[in-house]
Amino acid sequence: MGQQFEVRTITPSIGGEVSGLDLSKPLSDADFDTLHAAFLDRKVLFFRNQNMTLDQQKAFGRRFGELHIHPSARPYREDGVDHAEILFIHADENTTRTAGDTWHSDVSCDPEPPMASILRLVEIPPSGGDTLFASMSAAYDALSEPMKLYLGALTATHDGAPNYKDRAKRRDNVIDEKQYPSNIHPIIRTHPETGQKAIYVNEAFTTQINDIPKKEGAAVLRFLFDHIANAAFQCRFQWSENAIAMWDNRCTLHHAMWDYFPSTRSGFRVTVKGDKPF
Ligand code: SIN
Repeated sequence: MGQQFEVRTITPSIGGEVSGLDLSKPLSDADFDTLHAAFLDRKVLFFRNQNMTLDQQKAFGRRFGELHIHPSARPYREDGVDHAEILFIHADENTTRTAGDTWHSDVSCDPEPPMASILRLVEIPPSGGDTLFASMSAAYDALSEPMKLYLGALTATHDGAPNYKDRAKRRDNVIDEKQYPSNIHPIIRTHPETGQKAIYVNEAFTTQINDIPKKEGAAVLRFLFDHIANAAFQCRFQWSENAIAMWDNRCTLHHAMWDYFPSTRSGFRVTVKGDKPF
């Protein structure tokens, strides 16, 4: 027997808030199919009041695929048990830099970047700490036809070193003696499930456009970073305790606002493996 749930559209281009679903319980195949279709359509889904264990959160993630292990974070440890598949997201009065405080797609420097991320916040600041999401297929659709053709022939380098090395210097849950991934991906990628095209560059990881003069590449990246931050492609999520956001890294960017210092914001992210962008 399935659960009765609904998905409320947030903006025409992105976002759906799901009500009536308890993710701590195993999902029936029919419920999973409905949720999966909503995820592909809305690109980011929000759920409220999901009180669950780390194992339940991992089990929910595994319905979508194998779980991803972050290339630079240490395993999260709880009650003497390592949870390598859990990324602990935490900021408080001692924080000098938070995770994700700029537009990005998670770990896009990986050869096969994650397809989805499932973040549950367990402690939220009195105000602020929202996460913004942007549809990169809406951003692609808004480009002129000549620009689509031009960008469609180009690739860009996504390098983890600048981002993760800086974090490693500031935080002790990051392993800093390692080599960080750096990979080349198409600037326009095709979603493997929907076939929709999306812009695939971001300020956190994309360092250069390849095979064109450096100055031209820098100007194109500046144009794209500006274009993708257009409010018309976005929705914004105001967190509550035990809310979950689940986003599709193949066709969205997100930006975690750090406007709540010195308050605490804390939670757990499970990330689902993806495939090589094409
Ligand atoms: C992230 O996974 O990039 C962090 C998102 C957030 O903290 O809202």
